[in-house]
Amino acid sequence: MTKKITLEDHLHEAQASFDAASNPRLVEIMRSALTHIYAFVEETKLTREEWAAGIEFLTAVGQKCDDVRQEFILLSDTLGVSMLVEMLNQMPSDVATDPTVFGPFHVPGAPELAMGSSIAPEGNNGEPLVFSGTVRDAKGAPLEGARLDVWQVAPNGLYDVQDPASPPMSYRGVFETGADGTFEIHATRPVDYEIPTDGPVGKMLRSTGRHAWRPAHTHFMVSCPGYKTLITHAFDADSPHLGRDAVFGVRESLIIDMNGGRATFNVVLDSLLPGVAP
Ligand code: BEZ
Ligand code: FE
Repeated sequence: MTKKITLEDHLHEAQASFDAASNPRLVEIMRSALTHIYAFVEETKLTREEWAAGIEFLTAVGQKCDDVRQEFILLSDTLGVSMLVEMLNQMPSDVATDPTVFGPFHVPGAPELAMGSSIAPEGNNGEPLVFSGTVRDAKGAPLEGARLDVWQVAPNGLYDVQDPASPPMSYRGVFETGADGTFEIHATRPVDYEIPTDGPVGKMLRSTGRHAWRPAHTHFMVSCPGYKTLITHAFDADSPHLGRDAVFGVRESLIIDMNGGRATFNVVLDSLLPGVAP
């Protein structure tokens, strides 16, 4: 009698097809991806129609991507996978500032601004807000030469790259701390906004009864030689969406008071060498 191929045999045959790859990490990733994809298909007993619908969805996600729109990142964000990758890769010490999701709206090369200047264009109609704080190491020493790359939405809830009427590089700036590690950044109070819903990810949110809101926040990427780069947000404590972020990025320690035109956001960076402040 001929031997029947089991589901397990089938998985092993597909996994073994990658074993000759010269990059062992690639072999590990492909083997593991197959283990979990096969388990998902088996567990849900995926029908042929459901499989085709999934392929159609992923095709639409790819077709929505262009130079400025990255629908796959949006999909990863809304499934919580982007945040999971950050949690694994930016694991902070007990004292360091919590990281959160990077998001698709960072633009490299933002203007380098003098400390105390504004990322908001003149004549804006937002509520003025000044962020101030100190960048320190895990032992509490202020860090000189820490760079804060800051970006946020305009008062209309759009990033400059989403708004053809916005001057480029609006609500963006890079600041460098002096010897005392302090910073002061003038901005507008960030507003709640919806992530883009005009593509297949928006359709997925609507068809599963989910919303697209992100609680008001300002993005900070803080780097300093010898320290782990921190990618994080400062969230407005008054946002009604803090408990229901569409991309699962809220961390309690990042929620700050933004009333009265001032917000204090202190930052602690971990050393690149575990357990050592350089
Ligand atoms: C953001 O905060 O800019 C963002 C994060 C994830 C998806 C969309 C936007
Ligand atoms: Fe954002």
